[in-house]
Amino acid sequence: MAVTYPRKILNTLGPREVMDGVVKERRVQVLFLNSYRFNEQRSCLELTSLMEALDGKPRELVRELSHHVSDEARHAAWLTDLLFEMGEEIGNPESGSYINELNRLFDKSGDEVQSEDGLIAVLASINATEKRGCQAFSAHIAALRAAPASEENERIRLTLEKILPEEAAHVSWGSRWLGRIASRSAEHRVRVNAAKRKYAMIEHAAFEAGMDIMAGAELRRLGNLVEIANTLPVWERPSYLLERLPQALLSPDLQKSRVLAFQRVLEDSPERLVQQFIPTFLKGLQNLRPSLAEAR
Ligand SMILES: [Fe+2]
Ligand SMILES: [Fe+2]
Repeated sequence: MAVTYPRKILNTLGPREVMDGVVKERRVQVLFLNSYRFNEQRSCLELTSLMEALDGKPRELVRELSHHVSDEARHAAWLTDLLFEMGEEIGNPESGSYINELNRLFDKSGDEVQSEDGLIAVLASINATEKRGCQAFSAHIAALRAAPASEENERIRLTLEKILPEEAAHVSWGSRWLGRIASRSAEHRVRVNAAKRKYAMIEHAAFEAGMDIMAGAELRRLGNLVEIANTLPVWERPSYLLERLPQALLSPDLQKSRVLAFQRVLEDSPERLVQQFIPTFLKGLQNLRPSLAEAR
């Protein structure tokens, strides 16, 4: 099945361009690998909580989810082995986590997972994150293939190549379940398509929050929040926005990521900080529109 990938970051950088830069700097590549490792590990916790909430029903779904948890645990173990053998840290990433940001952006007023709408929401959100995994791994693999060969890069590529087909299978699995529900009636199809759109937006906003540390990121986060709120019933919009405003405008994770990035560039090359990093950082101010609105 063809996998439709999520949009570009900040409407300018494609995943392949990001990864070409990532594989050039070992330190940055290690940070990416550790965040993949952490997300794989965390998804086991999320899927296990989902199975407990479903409490055995529907039986077929719970059985398939138990295999899904085992896949994600295997991916986490492969990435942990890789980083361990590279002599690198396997601790929690210092900057915020993508899954925490996703959970913050989900509207908690949603339906119970045992209801049909709740199930559609869960499947649509899993589907959006699995697509992101496929996008990241395939862009990373392509960038490694194009980079100068090294024994370490070869090991990284082989690990990612073991994971990618399983992530693609997770996307197909979610799409099959959503397709099955959509085929029940025209009204079901409308509900499934609306959920797919909404969770693709939420996923994109969460992913971008982790990648966009440039000047003006707070305003782009706020714009994305408004776009997501517009998918909710009118009476739910104010409280959705109010609850998430502090995280958008005053995010400690964002400030921490900025400081870490400045420190890293300063340690590596003080000239690059002035000549390259600061001008790029300030360019963020030229692009203050929410990316979700722009991509429509
Ligand atoms: Fe995975
Ligand atoms: Fe997966």
